[in-house]
Amino acid sequence: MARILQPTSSNLDDIAAYLQSGEIAAIPTETVYGLAGNALDPRAVAKIFKTKGRPAQNPLIVHIESLEQLSSIADISESAKVLASLFWPGPLTMILRKKSIVSDRVTAGLQTVAVRMPSHPIFRELARRCSFPIAAPSANPFGYVSPTRTEHVQQQLGDQISFILDGGPSEKGLESTIVSLSTPSQPELLRYGSISLDSISVALGIPVIDKVNRVDSGNSGLISPGLMKKHYSPNTPIELFSGAVPEVNSNEVVLHLFWNSDFDPKQLYLSETGTMEEAAQNFYHCLQFLDQKHFNKIYLELPPKGGIGDALRDRMGRAAARG
Ligand code: TXA
Ligand code: MG
Repeated sequence: MARILQPTSSNLDDIAAYLQSGEIAAIPTETVYGLAGNALDPRAVAKIFKTKGRPAQNPLIVHIESLEQLSSIADISESAKVLASLFWPGPLTMILRKKSIVSDRVTAGLQTVAVRMPSHPIFRELARRCSFPIAAPSANPFGYVSPTRTEHVQQQLGDQISFILDGGPSEKGLESTIVSLSTPSQPELLRYGSISLDSISVALGIPVIDKVNRVDSGNSGLISPGLMKKHYSPNTPIELFSGAVPEVNSNEVVLHLFWNSDFDPKQLYLSETGTMEEAAQNFYHCLQFLDQKHFNKIYLELPPKGGIGDALRDRMGRAAARG
């Protein structure tokens, strides 16, 4: 079992020193919990891959706390400056050309690096105490549902790590939007998240190419879990529906998007207030909770397209994909 640490000043000092010594720990961000280590320390990077069971071809996101720190690891293009000023700190990851200080282990041999400046106040408190950028994939075993609460990390990785820093439930609940600026004149969206493709296009003043469902990760050189057909998957089979509610037997369960006044107390839903933000926030938690009940099947209600609905539809589709 890992120890769950409250974010007191002395615990934050201790975790920063622990990471500095080449160790790894789970930490909160506003999207999902991350499995963090010093991005510039090969020992920490190796431990991250091993603990997650993550294939070496899958590059890590490097988290920063300031733009000065960013300039030490990546080339900052004009478009990167624009997006940073509008969306950072926040749930946006940019793919930029890397500097040589970032090792091939972190980027899986690519000449680009994924970077993000999280907004979670506890993350920022920790990062300010660290003299290094923080590599952190989502703190789940490779392919499983991402963690949005300390208990999820404890269940999934608690026997492999010593500390989980408690930052409460993740506010967004889905991983960051990923945009590639490796060719600045041709920005590409690689993963849906809370920040929409349209808002990035508007900010840059040029169209962003939606690559999310157009990259065949099997054939391209890069295997990107965010782009894999099956990912974020619980063990229970998932079926998606929209419109008519499926009839289920007692071994199956329906997870609705929004609460409705016709519901009896047994019906399950992602949002009580009827907002897509709240549905996204609760999605992984509900999935992990239901996965432990060992139903034969979980039916998920698909949100309509647009905005965060796109990110949620995307995660539901990957959770439901087989093999
Ligand atoms: O919200 C998030 O982004 C969370 C929190 C912890 O920050 N992190 C996260 O990391 O979701 P991870 O490792 O689970 O997903 C990172 C995604 C993967 O799909 C990876 O392949 C892609 O980013 N990626 C990393 N570096 C890349 C690069 N240089 N080019 C293209 N894709 C990259
Ligand atoms: Mg992940």
